[in-house]
Amino acid sequence: MRHSIRAFAHPSHRPQALYRPAHGDRCTLVLLGATGDLAKKKLLSAVGDLRRKGLLPGACRIIGVDRMDLDDAGFRGLVAEAIAKGDGADGMDPRDLHSMLTRTHYVAGDLTDPELYEDLVTHIGLLERDVPPESRNRLFYLAVPPAVFEPAVAHLSRVGLLTRRSAEERPWARAIVEKPFGRSFESAAALDRAVRSRIEEHQIFRIDHYLGKETVQNIVVFRAANAMFEPIWNRDHVSHVQITAAESVGVEGRGGYYDTAGAVRDMFQNHLFQLLALTGMELPTSLRANAVRDEKVKLLRSVRVLDPARTVRAQYGSGVVGGRIVRGYREETGVSPETHTETYAALELAIDNGRWRGVPFFLRSGKRLAGRCTEIAVHFKTPPYLIEGLTGEEPGEPLPENVLVLRVQPEEGMSLSFATKVPGVVRALDPELSVAPVDMRFDYDEAFGTEHHAAYETLLLDATIGDATLFTRSDEVATSWRLLDPLLDRWAADPTPLPTYHAGTWGPKEADALLEDHGFGWRVPGS
Ligand code: BG6
Repeated sequence: MRHSIRAFAHPSHRPQALYRPAHGDRCTLVLLGATGDLAKKKLLSAVGDLRRKGLLPGACRIIGVDRMDLDDAGFRGLVAEAIAKGDGADGMDPRDLHSMLTRTHYVAGDLTDPELYEDLVTHIGLLERDVPPESRNRLFYLAVPPAVFEPAVAHLSRVGLLTRRSAEERPWARAIVEKPFGRSFESAAALDRAVRSRIEEHQIFRIDHYLGKETVQNIVVFRAANAMFEPIWNRDHVSHVQITAAESVGVEGRGGYYDTAGAVRDMFQNHLFQLLALTGMELPTSLRANAVRDEKVKLLRSVRVLDPARTVRAQYGSGVVGGRIVRGYREETGVSPETHTETYAALELAIDNGRWRGVPFFLRSGKRLAGRCTEIAVHFKTPPYLIEGLTGEEPGEPLPENVLVLRVQPEEGMSLSFATKVPGVVRALDPELSVAPVDMRFDYDEAFGTEHHAAYETLLLDATIGDATLFTRSDEVATSWRLLDPLLDRWAADPTPLPTYHAGTWGPKEADALLEDHGFGWRVPGS
């Protein structure tokens, strides 16, 4: 049985409106792919939330660009609908919404058509005619399919909207780029060369929305601000680390894309490797973008070449999720019935540096698992010396280990489990004294009661401020691909059918062996 105690923030603590008080610059936000899934589900409501909190200057214009045949009124309706479905809908002052919508516009066209970009120049010119030249900042959000990314940047640059600028130059021009950034080291490098031939690295904001999540930002702060943990954050005290990103959803209408990607490209190369880097890296000298990114790259470069024998891939079969029968991956729309694409992967990684040599890091992620949960669990070694007679809860059981869990979602926070004496009188002559694990638990919502800040809201704001700390740099992307390419090539060449796991379970039994070989076992995520 587990027992738990809860942690609360000091009552004098007042939550911050957002983790930093800075406001974004006045700018024109041009959203390419404005009627797509991402825009409708995340981006438009994030823009609304920024406006509601007064973090995006009222003078900012929003221009949606996409293939769908809409006029300004049609797009405004779509924006209003997205905001109404978002978290902060109730709190938005109707006057703010109205004023935001009157500054929202739409340009229809094919994103690969050169003429669309001439139209865009005309529109932006008209909308910005009253804006002083030095304030004509432009943020281009490329929520477009990978194939459109390069032509879109080329056209924006050709028509003079997105051109090379120095970091200090005003007005600024920046591009936010959605993942996936390439599908291998080579393709990512080619894309990078193409983009860098037109703009500078500091103008590119590569999104990994995990970096915008509160608990992910907390990893470094937590390590740096607590004298208790950093001294034991190493091979002397940590037995292993488990990083899990479990989803209960399937491919959700994205079968066509997903079948060309798979779990490793979709989740590991970006989100899981970012969690790995932040957990394992040396502490940066500051929280400035390059200081943090330098340390992340160093850590990723220390990861030893992956041993394919220490990896597992699998596909979900049919099963029951949330009381509903769901079909298997091969039956999903847009997925080939003979597909070899993995919907689950587990990797064992070894880090070759003084801090981590000999400490395995286990990463796993999958779709259609038993629940939605992303967490980093740091398992500590049990004490090297035990008083005679101390056992786990049952006689003869080993003592429970200390585990620190950083919960990324759904209940953002952390917990620390430690061992404690089961109540009862201690007698010197007792043959055995049992010890039980207790969880000390901290929930962000419960402790601070802050309003939820969606990851995209934080990231959009940072891009308007020009702070790239929570975005990935090109060498991080390249290093991640370099690590994964050999495995992906090997998997692609292997015709053996993939193992399957029942939808609604925690994954294939093959993944258990990875840990059992070391005498460990996977945690039940969220437990
Ligand atoms: C995206 C992946 O990057 O992250 C999706 O493409 C995945 O397949 C999603 O579902 C998970 O994000 P979150 O924030 O729900 O964990």
